[in-house]
Amino acid sequence: MALQDVLGIEWPIIQAPMAGVQDSRLALAVSNAGGLGSLPCAMLSPEALRSELETLRAGTGKPFNVNFFAHTPPVPDNAREQRWREALSPYYREFGIDPHAIPAGGGRTPFNEETAALVEAFRPQVVSFHFGLPAPALLQRVKAAGARVLSTATTVEEALWLEQNGADAIIAQGLEAGGHRGIFLTRDLSTQLGTFALVPQVAGAVKIPVIAAGGIADVGGIRAAMELGAAGVQLGTAFLLCPEATTRAVHREALKGPQARHTAITNLFSGGPARSIMNRVMRELGPVAEVAPEFPLATSAIAPLRAAAEARDSGDFSPLWSGQNASGCQEIPAGQLIRQLVEQL
Ligand SMILES: Cc1cc2nc3c(=O)[nH]c(=O)nc-3n(C[C@H](O)[C@H](O)[C@H](O)COP(=O)(O)O)c2cc1C
Repeated sequence: MALQDVLGIEWPIIQAPMAGVQDSRLALAVSNAGGLGSLPCAMLSPEALRSELETLRAGTGKPFNVNFFAHTPPVPDNAREQRWREALSPYYREFGIDPHAIPAGGGRTPFNEETAALVEAFRPQVVSFHFGLPAPALLQRVKAAGARVLSTATTVEEALWLEQNGADAIIAQGLEAGGHRGIFLTRDLSTQLGTFALVPQVAGAVKIPVIAAGGIADVGGIRAAMELGAAGVQLGTAFLLCPEATTRAVHREALKGPQARHTAITNLFSGGPARSIMNRVMRELGPVAEVAPEFPLATSAIAPLRAAAEARDSGDFSPLWSGQNASGCQEIPAGQLIRQLVEQL
């Protein structure tokens, strides 16, 4: 069955859910243009999620995707948190920040009973997960509410695991992808494959549809992914300059400049590996630092530095999430971007 039929959409293009840089506005623009718009929920309170779901329901009769994280929250480790704050202490001094005033914590809640109840109430057509799948009882509730379930695989092993554990389609996330890696069966980053290597191997291993993600920026990339066995694509970075995205000014500037060609996997902003445009803190601490607490616990300690730097129009401490190919970013409405892509398909 074609991906369009599985998901009830017109075009096999999914706008990647992107926590921190978008809300229902971007999702609505994409869904109304015949793609699959996505709402990232990892950083929303249950009240905010309810209100966003109401906006989506009121704004479109077409399918949309609601995205959650399915990580297991780590046990906080005080000693590691202290070491992390020590590593950041020269920067706290530079910006006049009192580290004692910074709360610990991560600010991303995995899918749980409360969010499952909202899925049951609003019955979105598609629910996607990052970092595996929720516990079987919770997943069953999502399926019983009628949603098609997608989740991200970064290796063939993860794709097989997701297929065996109830996913209806696999998002094969190549190493080029912007934002957090959906890696969940291992922590070994040497297992991570580029999109061209991952997509055909996943497509050969599973029976369910495969959606290619990572570095796809234009119609050539979409065609190539389909040629390699993908039933559809998920694009994130390409939507970051759309007016409907809430991408901040420093992030937009970085995406528009030559620095967008230099990205790296970093754990400094959350504790989990994610791709960002290279900036000062990544250069100075090394993009991957052992001292950063586990995902998502590194977030709190670096957040005030981000705020202080952004107040000076600097992205030196910001997660400038981007895939390796920002060449498809255009400052045009998301619906127009979808139409432009499908016109040439
Ligand atoms: C700014 C940004 C935020 C992201 N946040 C999420 C998220 O909340 N949930 C998720 O499943 N994937 C997230 N991703 C990853 C995307 O789903 C997707 O894998 C990636 O954007 C594809 O690569 P591309 O950016 O090169 O198109 C994010 C990506 C970006 C660029």
